Amino acid sequence: MTQPMIDVRDVAKRFGDNVVLKQISLDLPAGRVMGLIGPSGAGKTTLVKAILGMEKVDSGTTTVLGTEMPNRQIMQKIGYMAQSDALYETLTARENLRFFGELMGVAGPALTSSITHVAQVVNLTEMLDRRVSAYSGGMKRRLSLAIALIADPDLLILDEPTVGIDPELRQQIWAELRTLKQHGKAILVTTHVMDEAERCDELMLIREGIALAQGTPADLKREYTVETIEQVFLKAGRLQDENHSDR
Ligand SMILES: Nc1ncnc2c1ncn2[C@@H]1O[C@H](COP(=O)(O)OP(=O)(O)OP(=O)(O)O)[C@@H](O)[C@H]1O
Ligand SMILES: [Mg+2]
Repeated sequence: MTQPMIDVRDVAKRFGDNVVLKQISLDLPAGRVMGLIGPSGAGKTTLVKAILGMEKVDSGTTTVLGTEMPNRQIMQKIGYMAQSDALYETLTARENLRFFGELMGVAGPALTSSITHVAQVVNLTEMLDRRVSAYSGGMKRRLSLAIALIADPDLLILDEPTVGIDPELRQQIWAELRTLKQHGKAILVTTHVMDEAERCDELMLIREGIALAQGTPADLKREYTVETIEQVFLKAGRLQDENHSDR
């Protein structure tokens, strides 16, 4: 039996009176890409942080690689890219990659070749020795993604990885994610970009902390009898609003 990389069971979370997650469950096996979509403020980042054990939940459980989170050893096995970049601005990109690589247990020639590879993936090879303080927003985003990939983790959790990244590079990044998936990695990604959502094996549409729909992109389109994920997104939102006004 293969254990899921991520297993979330009935997770609920509120901030004061604000209910942010309601009975969310999901499991992500190896070799799959799951997309979390939903409007701004829906609870995507909170769910991601709950999975990582960075945000305490009120009820339910989140386990990663069979271990309840938070857990430092497991954290080391996850390539996590936060929604806001956490980089050392006074260091160069290469120094950032070295630092985080070592933190994740990669060293020596393996680290050097990994830096070369991830820099290529995000197109930063020429800029590696520049200080991060001189980077543009999109370049910082790309460096954050490179850091998430540096230790070749079995699980990637990427919170809006392609914000500020141009279309050509987005294609390149998604091609890399596909390759990683084919190598058996599990990937959880949040996005507002609907063509990225279409590329996921499985989607969870979350709105006001509720998982409105869950399944493959094809499942969701069938369920809502529409042609695109964007239409699923809009229709599910309308239906939820109508339900509210019925009450
Ligand atoms: N630390 C916090 N304290 C209080 N409220 C919070 C906190 N973090 C998030 N929230 C609230 O939780 C809700 C969900 O926020 P979250 O960041 O998870 O949304 P999101 O789906 O990631 O949105 P976006 O697409 O804009 O990133 C929002 O109402 C937000 O204001
Ligand atoms: Mg977010």
